[in-house]
Amino acid sequence: MGILFSAPQVEFETIREQWLQSVSQIARGGQFVGGPSVAQFESSFAAYLGTEGAVGVGNGTDALFLALKALNIGPGDEVITVANTFIATVGAIHQTGARPVLVDCDDSYLIDFEQVKASATPRTKAVIPVHLYGRMVDLREWLPWAEEKGIAIIEDCAQAAGASLEGKAAGSWGTMGCFSFYPDKNLGALGDGGAVVSSSPEWLSRLRKLRNHGGEIRYQHEIPGFNSRLDSLQACALQIKLSYLDEWSAKRRDIAAGYAIRLQGLDYVAVPEASRDSRHVYHLYVIRLVDGRREALKKHLQKKGILTAVQYPVPVHLTPAYSFLGYAAGSFPNAEGYANEILSLPMHIGLTEDEVALVSNEIKSFFA
Ligand SMILES: Cc1ncc(COP(=O)(O)O)c(C=O)c1O
Repeated sequence: MGILFSAPQVEFETIREQWLQSVSQIARGGQFVGGPSVAQFESSFAAYLGTEGAVGVGNGTDALFLALKALNIGPGDEVITVANTFIATVGAIHQTGARPVLVDCDDSYLIDFEQVKASATPRTKAVIPVHLYGRMVDLREWLPWAEEKGIAIIEDCAQAAGASLEGKAAGSWGTMGCFSFYPDKNLGALGDGGAVVSSSPEWLSRLRKLRNHGGEIRYQHEIPGFNSRLDSLQACALQIKLSYLDEWSAKRRDIAAGYAIRLQGLDYVAVPEASRDSRHVYHLYVIRLVDGRREALKKHLQKKGILTAVQYPVPVHLTPAYSFLGYAAGSFPNAEGYANEILSLPMHIGLTEDEVALVSNEIKSFFA
């Protein structure tokens, strides 16, 4: 077998016995949606992040959508985010009826704050910084600016569970933080799952209603709502995995350091920069091939049994789905240029040092 790109099955082996026991326990109790296991995970996750609370929802896309709905964002409003994100960030904005306003990324692949400031209008109700690849957007300057303007910051933490800046967790900086527990995420469930975290009792209460047909108590519908809840079996898996998250993040950082040592200094390869104040959790290890040979390298590695990926091959504004926003080729030069140059290398907790060396050597031999 070759080298896998991601391997949630390796994580499952670690939690197998404990999880199977909790499945039996839940099955005996008969409460498969909500219930004590969800409440327990929500309070553990909030404690881990240092927020007042967490609200489990069906997936990360719903987490973003419900966070925006909690703020009453809808038609006539604008929400700013970045062009090089997973489509779900923009989809969630669009689903509320608000207009997604896109900006470019900087050379660390993260949303460019100067462009955010320049794009804000009186209609701007929120900005969604995306902590892409597991590295936090530096929100230090954002908070006073957003407060002064009355703009909410909704952190897209789908790729950044466990990341932090100056010791403060991703998700605990903004008005709300939105997480995906898709299986290959750093904190992944055994199916779909998500959460919104916040330190505002008001937003937490609205989120608990919105995810459950508009009410926290059955048949008491206080506001129009949705059905987007976290399953008990997923909450159990997440509760167990949360206790491994820091260890697994450290393992990801070791792997990243292993790649960096071997690939640094190569003429055609740019390795991701590790920032000093920020704890990068390397959801993805993304290199950039600056000589136009990304596809050829990808094929070369595939032939050697090494799986890689491109996150993401087409910036959101150039997808058919969002062409109606009116942006064009050339609107966001960084996002567009990087989309042709980036390559995500294998990154998961089952990767050995020998495998990291092998992948790196294959890249070197390709360019030699
Ligand atoms: C940056 C980003 N935002 C949002 C999402 C949506 O999460 P989900 O797939 O759980 O709906 C993802 C995950 O795929 C993501 O990577």
